[in-house]
Amino acid sequence: MTLSIRPIDPISRPFFAGEVSGIDITRPLTADVVRAIDKGMDEFAVLVFHDQRFTDETQIAFSANFGELEQATGDLNWGQQRRIASPLINDISNLNNDNSVMARDDRKRLFSLGNRLWHSDSSFKAVPAKYSLLSARSIPAAGGNTEFADMRAAWDDLDAETQALCAPLICEHSQLYSRGMLGFDDFTPEDVQRFQPVLQRLVRTHPSTGRKSLFLASHAGAIQGWLMPEARALLRDLVEHATQRKYVYAHVWRQWDLVIWDNRATMHRARPFDSAQARDMHRTTVASERSTMAEAA
Ligand SMILES: [Fe+2]
Repeated sequence: MTLSIRPIDPISRPFFAGEVSGIDITRPLTADVVRAIDKGMDEFAVLVFHDQRFTDETQIAFSANFGELEQATGDLNWGQQRRIASPLINDISNLNNDNSVMARDDRKRLFSLGNRLWHSDSSFKAVPAKYSLLSARSIPAAGGNTEFADMRAAWDDLDAETQALCAPLICEHSQLYSRGMLGFDDFTPEDVQRFQPVLQRLVRTHPSTGRKSLFLASHAGAIQGWLMPEARALLRDLVEHATQRKYVYAHVWRQWDLVIWDNRATMHRARPFDSAQARDMHRTTVASERSTMAEAA
């Protein structure tokens, strides 16, 4: 069989999110196949693969085809005993180290609810994420979808005046802002130190396609040189614009799905599910090559 990609019907945009078939990506891949996946990512920004029975080792090996992998330092429990051995795997689950389901009021669970807000992975790191690769190891009976919004289409549809306003702006991103939106402030002094804001351009140009996109996230909490309420109001307006249903693909997970998304061109958010059920997702993250501040304005 050979790899093929078909567009997944979105609500109105014809070419956002693709479903890939004809390939087992848990095995070593040829350079041609890796190039075909990269090309698919440039076109669709989100690719869905079904029935990929990854281990952490094979997921890391597959992910490394696309660049250098990030360490999972955005975890609240970074530096402590973790459930998953490899520091290259982000633990996107509601599970304790003994694989039991976290208590509803668990601090790590409440922190992770920040994933329900629209965001781009690791925008709170000086060098943010390129691709995220999320493997569904176990899923709840219902709910827990992941929604993706196309930041390229959102940029294209802004009027010229708003594009000109946004183009030069530089935002401050921190997990302190995104969690603060949910009223979560249970941070240790070490967390506060680790989550100091970083600077990111609001408008990015994709290095492969040349397409512009809005680089938004709930982690963005300030704009350099702007009064805070004006900055927050603009960011809120832009997120509202960019997450209209016509820009959104909602992924309904099956066990052993692997979804890759380009954080430079999309935002995403998790949807609620029954907190008494296990949801175990393992994420590898390919880092961008440079800070957005080093990209052309
Ligand atoms: Fe995320």
